[in-house]
Amino acid sequence: MLLSPRLTPETYKCLIDAARQDPEAFWLRESRRLQWMNAPTSAMDTGSGWFADGTLNVSVNCLDRHLETRGDHTALIWQGEDTGSVLRLTYRELHARVCAMGNVLRDSGVKRGDRVAIHLPGVVEGVIAMLACARIGAMHVVLFGGFSAEAIADRLADSGAVLVITANVGRRGAKRIPFKTTMDTALGLRPEALAVRRVLVVEVTWDEVPLQEGRDALLTPLLAAASTECEPEVMKATDPLFLLYTSGSTGKPKGIVHGTGGYLTWASFTHELIFDHQQGDVFWCTADIGWITGHTYVAYGPLANGGTLLLFEGMPSHPAPGRWWDVIQSHKVTTFYTSPTAVRALMSEGDEIPGRYNLSSLRVLGSVGEPINHEAWTWFHDVIGGGRCALVDTWWQTETGGAMISLVPGAVAPRPASATLPLPGVNPVLLDEKGQPLDGAVEGILCIDGSWPGRALSIWKDDALFQTTYLKPYPGHYFTGDGARRDADGYYWITGRVDDVINVSGHRIGSAEIEDALSEIHDISESAAIGIPHDLKGQGLIVYVVPHHGLSDTQLAALKDAVIKTIAAKVGRYAVPERVYLVPDIPKTRSGKSVRRLLRKIACGETEGFGDLSTLANPAIVADLIAVIGRN
Ligand code: WTA
Repeated sequence: MLLSPRLTPETYKCLIDAARQDPEAFWLRESRRLQWMNAPTSAMDTGSGWFADGTLNVSVNCLDRHLETRGDHTALIWQGEDTGSVLRLTYRELHARVCAMGNVLRDSGVKRGDRVAIHLPGVVEGVIAMLACARIGAMHVVLFGGFSAEAIADRLADSGAVLVITANVGRRGAKRIPFKTTMDTALGLRPEALAVRRVLVVEVTWDEVPLQEGRDALLTPLLAAASTECEPEVMKATDPLFLLYTSGSTGKPKGIVHGTGGYLTWASFTHELIFDHQQGDVFWCTADIGWITGHTYVAYGPLANGGTLLLFEGMPSHPAPGRWWDVIQSHKVTTFYTSPTAVRALMSEGDEIPGRYNLSSLRVLGSVGEPINHEAWTWFHDVIGGGRCALVDTWWQTETGGAMISLVPGAVAPRPASATLPLPGVNPVLLDEKGQPLDGAVEGILCIDGSWPGRALSIWKDDALFQTTYLKPYPGHYFTGDGARRDADGYYWITGRVDDVINVSGHRIGSAEIEDALSEIHDISESAAIGIPHDLKGQGLIVYVVPHHGLSDTQLAALKDAVIKTIAAKVGRYAVPERVYLVPDIPKTRSGKSVRRLLRKIACGETEGFGDLSTLANPAIVADLIAVIGRN
């Protein structure tokens, strides 16, 4: 039987009003959803952070406090790639595993405040390691499985991680992804810049693992020997919980730092609200734990709320299309949260495949990471949700910690492809180019006024950059980097990034990240990376490259290949461009800035309507670029 949503439009309005009228009282009350060692006496951030005098431990909130009431309930279902491999852990079992891991980390010399890097495929040890770090007060730094060795080395160096948890391999269909070998390469790239003393290895398969004497150890025997009791650290609400790297419009990826009390309050509050979380739900968020969605809605939100989370090791259509639907059917998933890219890919397989499965357990569907187009929204809602499930399009970012603008089942009327309305306590504003707030139905730059419990604390080791990136562009507002349209009823439609971040399949890629990587190729004098609309991925990455003068035809022919290889090596395969154009120059303003607006239009095949080109330093280049695109 389908349960009805907990909220009605009326009860939700009370929540919104309460958050608006007395935010201090509202958030103090909401913080009581957590178990505090010392309950905070103040909520709002008046300079010393959210819930500043509260103390707590996140793993206690996600595990210990559920033991009495639901110790034997399933906390986690792991579905392996083989249909037959399923692991279920009750809260009691997960607690024991997390404690054992916490002890292994402590015994390996990890102390409160240290950073621990986690680089794992879709195995349970990822979530266990995150919670174990939280238990002993260490910060986790989860690294996306698709990062290259160079990208890993950069993040290990920046974070100063002292220990790494990785796997021998990851399974991807018949393929084996060499996690440990990639990590070894990363650790060997610039050892002098790294603080890693120990590498613990999860054996995902029986494949042989090369171990370096004195540094590496297999995890299983250590866990087996460890005690399953582990004293939790008492953390301040404002102590950092984790560091997560994300791409911005300038320079290298930045380590976004999230706190403890505010972040967990936000994760728990938003998870309950937007997914209408109820006892007995089986919650499946398909994100990799290497992204923020995997932090807040694979691990922390569901566990803080005593829910059951599902982890799937495999891919949507392996060994055959329909695999995801099979997982939903087998485990009676009630809540299914994924990305528009995945929805579009599944949609392209047709309606007949999902039609073979019983998806009647589903109650709430969710979308995140990029704007969802009307067609994908409708298909997801009608074909997968059978028209009876709420579809929550949740807009948020690594920096916001959790959802900010989203439908709330039962409480907010849907509009296809709209993220709908801000959550309680979230105050979005749309600004014009000059930073003036716009009223009513308009399109503008999306900023958020005031703070909210889940907001990131800072950028690791660079608070000045946090200020410059988010708080200074439009003084008095938090700058999101996104554009949005608002309709007459206050509904929001996110239009995409207004800065130089490209969103490919929900993965943030900075133009500067790509251009920096390419600056190392000897034969290139400059480059520009842009995103253009892509049917499946939302945006596709396009790179314009200016070769040095005087290169031979053979050298030119080799250049495109070098571009692809360099990006794969420096960033990761997920950032490999759709197309690479060799061009004589990049259109520039007189002050030397690449004019990306033009580059985007030309890459889309436009040949006219570029507006006034006389402000360019090199207007003649436009015709040359059009010719290059026309030839390719
Ligand atoms: C985009 C992912 C439209 C947006 C949680 C944002 C979205 C960036 C949506 C953050 C959505 C995320 N509709 N766009 N529902 N959700 N985005 O940090 O551009 O990986 O700024 O966090 O993804 O990506 P991030």
